[in-house]
Amino acid sequence: MLILGLNMFHADASAAIVQDGEVIFAIAEERLNRVKHYGGFPALAVKACLDAVGAKIADIDHVAVGQDSDANLAKKVQYALANPAKILNFIRLRQRKEQMRDVRSLLANALEVDSSKLNFQEHHLEHHVAHIASAYYCSPWQKAAGFSYDGSGDFVSTMMARCEGSEIEVLDRVYLPHSLGSFYTMICEFIGYKKYGDEGKVMGLAPYGKDSYVEKLRGIVGLNGNFQLDLGYFKPLGSNQGMQVLPDGTVRLARHFSDRMVELFGDPREPHAEITQRDMDLAYAMQHRFEEVFFHLLNQLHKRVPLEDLVMAGGCALNSVANGKLFNETPFRRTWIQPAAGDEGLAIGAALHTWHSVLKQPRKYVMKNSYLGPEFSDVTIETALRTAGLTYRKLERRPLLDEVAEQVAAGNVVGWFQGRMEWGPRALGNRSIVAHPGRSDMKDILNARIKHREWFRPFAPSIMAEYQHEYFEHDHPSPFMLHVYKIRPEKRQELCAVNHVDDTGRLQTVSRDENPMYYDLIDVFRRKTGIPVLLNTSFNENEPVVCTPAEAIDCFKRTRMDGLAIGSYLALKSEG
Ligand SMILES: [Fe+2]
Repeated sequence: MLILGLNMFHADASAAIVQDGEVIFAIAEERLNRVKHYGGFPALAVKACLDAVGAKIADIDHVAVGQDSDANLAKKVQYALANPAKILNFIRLRQRKEQMRDVRSLLANALEVDSSKLNFQEHHLEHHVAHIASAYYCSPWQKAAGFSYDGSGDFVSTMMARCEGSEIEVLDRVYLPHSLGSFYTMICEFIGYKKYGDEGKVMGLAPYGKDSYVEKLRGIVGLNGNFQLDLGYFKPLGSNQGMQVLPDGTVRLARHFSDRMVELFGDPREPHAEITQRDMDLAYAMQHRFEEVFFHLLNQLHKRVPLEDLVMAGGCALNSVANGKLFNETPFRRTWIQPAAGDEGLAIGAALHTWHSVLKQPRKYVMKNSYLGPEFSDVTIETALRTAGLTYRKLERRPLLDEVAEQVAAGNVVGWFQGRMEWGPRALGNRSIVAHPGRSDMKDILNARIKHREWFRPFAPSIMAEYQHEYFEHDHPSPFMLHVYKIRPEKRQELCAVNHVDDTGRLQTVSRDENPMYYDLIDVFRRKTGIPVLLNTSFNENEPVVCTPAEAIDCFKRTRMDGLAIGSYLALKSEG
């Protein structure tokens, strides 16, 4: 039984293939067509899914889409009638959505087959149910509280659910225009971060701010029942395009904040202007209020689903700072957060929901790691190295680990390309750049030579699982780099390149059964330096994370990386 899951005509378009209840392959279109957050039809991702299982589109039994424009229709109509000036935009939006409902023709065109040959059943699943499904059906639990939150999806911004056996029972929804994601985006835009996906950057700016505006932002997001926005500070929903997918598939955000923000806080910051104390204080207050609302919602959810296990997804679930604090602020004791918590994750959620909830199949699959993308043989890799004219050596596993660890211990920066590409936005040791976590100059070196990131953004540590409690104040594992914890005072100097200004780190817990090669690399580094941690940043330079050997080699050549460990091969700039 083959189920193809899709997120399409929406930011982070993606495809996933589920065979007999198991996710075999999943990928975001941006990794293949190299357009960040691509929001068109994921034609290349669909082809890659089919190749992974050796199937043709005619072999697919079910196609599931993580979007249902009929969901919450009454609420949409109610809003449109109360806001007549916005009706035209709603009609336009709905027409666009109608066009994309013809999944059969879209797939037939993309794969150049006759649509009459396609035998699949088609399913459309409400956006946030798909998010929760992407977490619950991948978790090891038979029962959990489900939570999803983001900017918006199918007219909803937040969903709470009870998950049990094969079923997800929706308990509550927060409808637009009230949205914690929109609140975060609005403040990010106001302080000059206007691109889709910039929210993660601003999270790193927050600890530089002071508590000047928390009270003011409490006035913008109130907590009566769930939560409500004071809409006076926002551009009215439907008055512009909000988030728009342009014809070339790029995603653009329209202005979210109204003139009342300007009256309250002064002029908005332009993207390249200096960051002032006002901007940092706003970032601080935004994160602080976001967390207060988040914990309030989780505590409400726990009253209705009094379990210790929480499954979570939605773009806001990438807020690793908030995730790291929830164990202190709520009764939940364990989390399983979908690594692709953003909208690419909808493809997996929709497909697994079809298997369990529609086809009534019992739970048995657990997503043990995020390595669901393509991999490349040594033959392919060597051809790419030769084509690029690089000097390289082939090494056995142990000498390769030893040389890379030696390079990193000496302060060099190495591209680390191994095995299957990660699913989700984080590089977790297969498409990573690794460096020494304890050198005070390492952040500047990485930024000057390769990453060119904002000065306030921290780099992340990958730590061997058994050492986490020695270095961090929390034990709960963070396998997908989705929790930020305090670093213990006595370890901050040792981890100075990954210790953020508030003495925290967004760690990746690495266990040997999840990624033996990466785990062993950290272990060899530990034997040389005494530190069971590597600095891990994604393998890219202002582009989607590299997918193929050729892209990795290209990034290695054009940046000032010192080494590239790719499959069994090692290339060093000093030797070439
Ligand atoms: Fe979403």
